[in-house]
Amino acid sequence: MSEKKLAGQVAWVSGAASGMGAAIATRYAAAGAQVMAVDVQDEMGNEVVARIRAAGGTAVFAHCDVAQGAEVAQSIEAAVAAFGGLHILVNCAGIVHIGPLHEYEEADWDRMMAVNAKAIFLAVKYAVPHLVQNARSYVVNIASVSSFIGQGSTPAYTASKHAALGLSRSIALDYAAQGLRCNCICPGITDTPMLRYHLDAMPDPEGALDKRLQRVPMGVAIQPDDIARAALYFACEDSTGITGASLVVDGGWTVCAEWETDGPTRFVAEGR
Ligand SMILES: NC(=O)c1ccc[n+]([C@@H]2O[C@H](COP(=O)([O-])OP(=O)(O)OC[C@H]3O[C@@H](n4cnc5c(N)ncnc54)[C@H](O)[C@@H]3O)[C@@H](O)[C@H]2O)c1
Repeated sequence: MSEKKLAGQVAWVSGAASGMGAAIATRYAAAGAQVMAVDVQDEMGNEVVARIRAAGGTAVFAHCDVAQGAEVAQSIEAAVAAFGGLHILVNCAGIVHIGPLHEYEEADWDRMMAVNAKAIFLAVKYAVPHLVQNARSYVVNIASVSSFIGQGSTPAYTASKHAALGLSRSIALDYAAQGLRCNCICPGITDTPMLRYHLDAMPDPEGALDKRLQRVPMGVAIQPDDIARAALYFACEDSTGITGASLVVDGGWTVCAEWETDGPTRFVAEGR
């Protein structure tokens, strides 16, 4: 990347130890941002940060359970103290719980809502006083195609991702006048540890993935860096004028009502 689109910017990225969050932290750092990477998986988070530094980027890791207000506040203040401000907030941490609703414990429901929805409230609550110090600032929330549609066996996840989309739209309205733009990315089937966890709960994980991808017009799983590219777009002035938007990155899955597709297109099959 020759142009450093995020030079001088400070980004707080949750869920940065794995999957999309790690890809976003890595791409942001490569684009010149100073990154506060937060997660509950300390070892993996520190490995991501070490890789970013080895590539010449700037990042630090902080342990933070995004469902705990005190930890969120602490890591945001640590980012400001380390780098002198905060310009970009990315809410990417997420969990999934598989099962029919009547088998949920109340604690399962509460945890899902806390990590996937309440965490956005907490991060915005503690970051906004810093974000609005800048002429322009950015909130990027990672929701899901489940923000628009129902999905079997993950009712609380689906509800939490509908909440994430609704929150994104309302945040966009409330802070637009202060130069803060808030947008939402809604990934489809993305090849991360979360997807593998979901598939591994099935008798034939690879078969289940193949079957799902037959419903995806582009015929492939989205890669974490595909989401990171979209997250970069929403964190700089390439997306000037866009706020409250939801960008679906799903290979055409949710606009497809066909029974089956032709499989990987020539466009995406190359190199994957
Ligand atoms: N993988 C997919 O197919 C898919 C599709 C749509 C949306 N998403 C969403 O994308 C986001 C990233 O997921 P992923 O697929 O990269 O999964 P992942 O499991 O690889 O990464 C999620 C990260 O969030 C972290 N995390 C979980 N609970 C946390 C907490 N309380 N505090 C801090 N960090 C916490 C995990 O430790 C992990 O590092 C999630 O919000 C997920 O719901 C994933």
